[in-house]
Amino acid sequence: MDPFQMAHSSPRKKRPRQMSASMVSPPHDIKFQDLVLFILEKKMGTTRRAFLMELARRKGFRVENELSESVTHIVAENNSGSEVLEWLQVQNIKASSQLELLDVSWLIECMRAGKPVEMTEEHQLVVRRDDSASPDPGPQKTPPLVKKISPYACQRRTTLNNCNHVFTDAFEVLAENYEFRENESFYLAFMRAASVLKSLPFTIISMKDIEGIPCLEDKARCVIEEIIEDGESSEVKTVLNDERYQSFKLFTSVFGVGLKTSEKWFRMGFRTLSKIRSDKTLKFTKMQKAGFLYYEDLVSCVTRAEAEAVGVLVKEAIWAFLPDAFITMTGGFRRGKKIGHDVDFLITSPGSTEEEEQELLSKVIKLWERKELLLYYDLVESTFEKAKLPSRQVDALDHFQKCFLILKLHHQRVESGKSSQQEGKTWKAIRVDLVVCPYEHRAFALLGWTGSRQFERDIRRYASHERKMILDNHNLYDKTKRIFLKAESEEEIFAHLGLDYIEPWERNA
Ligand code: CTP
Ligand code: MN
Ligand code: MN
Repeated sequence: MDPFQMAHSSPRKKRPRQMSASMVSPPHDIKFQDLVLFILEKKMGTTRRAFLMELARRKGFRVENELSESVTHIVAENNSGSEVLEWLQVQNIKASSQLELLDVSWLIECMRAGKPVEMTEEHQLVVRRDDSASPDPGPQKTPPLVKKISPYACQRRTTLNNCNHVFTDAFEVLAENYEFRENESFYLAFMRAASVLKSLPFTIISMKDIEGIPCLEDKARCVIEEIIEDGESSEVKTVLNDERYQSFKLFTSVFGVGLKTSEKWFRMGFRTLSKIRSDKTLKFTKMQKAGFLYYEDLVSCVTRAEAEAVGVLVKEAIWAFLPDAFITMTGGFRRGKKIGHDVDFLITSPGSTEEEEQELLSKVIKLWERKELLLYYDLVESTFEKAKLPSRQVDALDHFQKCFLILKLHHQRVESGKSSQQEGKTWKAIRVDLVVCPYEHRAFALLGWTGSRQFERDIRRYASHERKMILDNHNLYDKTKRIFLKAESEEEIFAHLGLDYIEPWERNA
């Protein structure tokens, strides 16, 4: 039987004398100098506490008899974070802000491992807000205890139930404005702030609610404070009324128009799309021409029913050439979104040769061209070389063969046939992305193409900063061991990274 469980399951059984706290244990060598533990007796009991203290000391941990300022880790059992905090406050000891409040399960894992193990969300007790102090619990009550929030989106579960829209919408406007002004660091700071609030299970109603939440810099805190107090942010209001912001927002809504083109048009004095469209001196790329031609369809988002209908089209075409291909809808729809700006598909085939794989997309394009379903396409050939080390650039594109398309989707192919389209037109233009990846890379490609962009940024950042590994859409490379880590599934990639698995619908960071 497990000694820890045994000690736990029989707390009332009298232990022999040498187990009592009064006993002076022989000195043990301290192996882990950085940690100073204190085990809380409250609700644990004297006997079990003494047992765990002795055991931890024997394993080389420094365990204090009394609480002091030097303590770095408080271990408690059957106590919530609030209870531990309450007890701490009575002790009149100036606790450091770095103090970790941990469940006994962490200590037990350390004992098994014979060394300090990583503190996961499951171990950490963190006090959030005192429920009783809130005069109005708001739409959703804040739980008194929420686990410590990670600064990495890949360690948070972010569903589409965002209870902090007021704040995240504001942050996204500010982030976008910084993006338009090519201020990358402020752009990222506001995207991170929006992302962390999306993961909260409660609505922020007072400044107290954001205590201890990571990724909220002063600028973001000020916006939150203003919204709480005045119902709106003056900075957001200014941005929304800003001519440059409005123009960039409008121009970049055209497929094929990025920051550079927007900047040019803005400087030339353009403010509306109709003026741009009808200007005889401007030159447009093939992509922009398509963007203007199908503008109305493309700005009206793709519904799930439309995405499913596109999925049928894609399968029909791909399976005509590679019957064993796996075709997965990725992107926002895989994360459970009800609408999207496009439909993304990952295609991989276990039995095909490199040549068959390489020819697939051009065959599909020819087929759709013949059927007059192809409104635009840009085929990007694979630049993938096996020998190459993975890319160090976090936001880099991958090397897979891919195709960015605009397809003609006939209304009759859409189930429920909800056609809110212009009269006379029997189809809608839909943006579609197709990616083909070699079978052994499918798990990495799937993880990379499922998003969200913020989730991807953070899981890569986590891999490199916390694990000394490089993750991209093709591979996971361990820099310490100097090997590529294989994975058959997304679950295996998370496991390689030492992360709890996050389901696709929890990646809406
Ligand atoms: N992606 C990528 N390489 C690209 C383009 C996209 O790895 N060249 C990844 C992005 O990281 C993103 C996912 O593919 O997470 C889907 O991209 P996109 O369609 O732009 O975003 P969605 O999350 O699907 O959002 P939407 O619903 O607006 O389409
Ligand atoms: Mn998408
Ligand atoms: Mn896409």
